[in-house]
Formats: sequence, structure tokens, C-alpha cells
Amino acid sequence: MDPQVESVRTRALEELSAVQDEASLQAWRQRYLGRRAVLANLLRRVGQMPEEERPRYGRQVHALQAELEFAWEGRQAAMTEETLAERARRERVDVTMPGRRPGIGALHPITQVLREMKEAFLALGFQVWEGPEVESDRYNFELLSMPPHHPARGMQDTIYLDTPALRTGPGGAPAPGALLLRTHTSPNQVRIMQRLQPPLRVVVPGKVYRYEQSDPAHNWMFYQVEGFAVDRGITLADLKGTIAAVLGHVFGPRRRLRFRCDYFPYVEPGMDTAVECVLCNGQGCRLCQGSGWLEVMPAGMIHPTVLRNCGIDPQRYSGFAFGAGPDRIAAVRWQIEDIRHLYQGDLRFLRQFRASMQRPA
Ligand code: PHE
Repeated sequence: MDPQVESVRTRALEELSAVQDEASLQAWRQRYLGRRAVLANLLRRVGQMPEEERPRYGRQVHALQAELEFAWEGRQAAMTEETLAERARRERVDVTMPGRRPGIGALHPITQVLREMKEAFLALGFQVWEGPEVESDRYNFELLSMPPHHPARGMQDTIYLDTPALRTGPGGAPAPGALLLRTHTSPNQVRIMQRLQPPLRVVVPGKVYRYEQSDPAHNWMFYQVEGFAVDRGITLADLKGTIAAVLGHVFGPRRRLRFRCDYFPYVEPGMDTAVECVLCNGQGCRLCQGSGWLEVMPAGMIHPTVLRNCGIDPQRYSGFAFGAGPDRIAAVRWQIEDIRHLYQGDLRFLRQFRASMQRPA
């Protein structure tokens, strides 16, 4: 073998076996096998050789080139194998480690209360209906004995929808067809009584809206469950019995209830049902606004005028109605000091209800 080829071979293989990292592996390849590298120089020498030695010399250089390519690939493969082994060690799986629990959803506290209330009402023979959230002034107010300038409208500050019907109202007052976001679920008493004849036992759950400053006990959107019954001989005793049964189902039978007179134009007599504040045990706090009681269920006997508005003869039939507040009920049940938490979708708040969804004894 040509002595120069021989010495390049020895040097190259020695250096290659000393290579430890990717960078010097690439540098080695550049040095020996690249375009201006050692082997290319060897090959260039062929021009200065006597004619008869050229083929032999050329074969030797080409053979060395093939040998070095092969050696380089072998070295590279060996180094990659080492890296794989290292990586396997680093990424080793601990099969004894406990798995990650999948996040299981839970019912929102208001949904939970709504379902329980529906359960209780269905057991008492009520059916469940729904009505529109965009309501007309006529159904939300007028047919419930609240004509345009009636002071009772001040009890429910209203979000009117800016439509042509609103702007053409007589004397600046909203026209009967003016559209608004319902301030309560009571318009459904009228909607249903206009369509169905007594005997009636119906509940209407849904969202209602008020143009209102929010505070720990109020929000501009909240839930109500309207309920009413119309039949011959329905009395206030039926109303109180129904409320006690439903609140007993939701809160547990030991919860104290208070019935007091209240005023709503569409009931006579009107009353309100309160539950003792569980946050302060009746002492007075932020949630109950110092009163010790939480009003969760205004109610009353349906006013004869409303029955007449719906084509029902008040001489033959009587009825009761109530509007329960499931958000308030959820607040009392879980001692939530600010009902606005219920509407903010903050998972840190909502996660607390995952485990606590049992009914109190
Ligand atoms: N609609 C009333 C309110 O939202 C509640 C109510 C319903 C009162 C039915 C009496 C009878 O304030």
C-alpha cells in the first residue's frame, strides 16, 4: 500500500475511535471525507504519478474512502445507541405510580336545587312548563294588574329592549307590546291560564332579569320557579302546605319557616316565605342584610282580576301562586355569603360543590 495512504488510514481510524461527541464526529467527517478534505487531496496526487502506478493508487484511495465511510457510520451508530440508552434511563416509566384522575363534572348548585324542586313538585302532581325570557309589557305587567304608571312596577326595575314598540308608547309609558327581559316568571301564570282550563298545577322554572345594582344578595340575572294551582276551593292552607312540602324536601324538614303578609298586585292576600338565615343563625349578617331571615318564596292567592284576565271565573275557581328563588335557596343551603359567586363560573368556587351535593337531613 502506498505509504501516504497507509499513514492517512492509521491516523484517521485512530482519531475516529477517540471521537466522543456529535460535534467532533461531524468535524472528523469534514476533515477526511469532505470536498477539500484529506482524501480528496490524496486523490489529487494521482496527476503527478507515473502512468503505470495510477490505477493501483486510485483503487487504494477509493478503497480507503469506502472504509472510512463505513467506519464513520459504525461510530455514529454506536454513539446514537448510547444516547438512546441514556434517554431510556431518563424517561423510564414508574408503573407503580397512581394514575391521574379524569376531571368529572358536577351539577351547578342552582341546577341541583332546580332539580330537587322539580322532583318535589312532580310528586305533588305539578307539571313543568317553560316560557319566553323576552316578554311583552302586557304579559310581564299589565295582565298582572300593573298598568303603565302603577307604583308596583317600581319593585322590579326593568330592562326594556329598545324596539320601535317601546319608543311609540303613549305618554312616554311603555306600550303593551313593548319588549323587555322578563322581571319575573309570573307572566307564565297568564300565558298558561289563557291556554288551559282548571284544574291546574304548574311550575315554570327559568331566568329573570332586573335593572339592578348587584350586591351579595342580588344580581341582575337570577332564577325563579313560578308555581301555581287553580281549582275549585283552593285556599291559603293549600299554599302553605305546598310551600312547606317543597322547602322541606329541599332544606330538610327541620328548617324554620316564617310566613308574613306582603303585597303584590296580582295576589290577594299576598305573603312572603322566609327561611332562617343559616349563616348567622338569625343574628343578622351580610347575607340576610341584618334581618336574620332570607326571603325565598313570595306567594299569595291569585287575584280575581288576574283570573278574569285569563278567562277564568273567580266565582267558581280560586288559586294560589308563588315565585321561589332557587339561587337564594342554594345560598342558604351552602351558606354562600355572596350569591354573585353562583354566576361567575369560577371553577375554584364551583369545585367545592362536587362532593357536597347530598341533601341535608
Ligand atoms: N313575581 C314576584 C316577584 O318576582 C313573586 C311572586 C310570584 C309573588 C307569585 C306572588 C306570587 O317578585
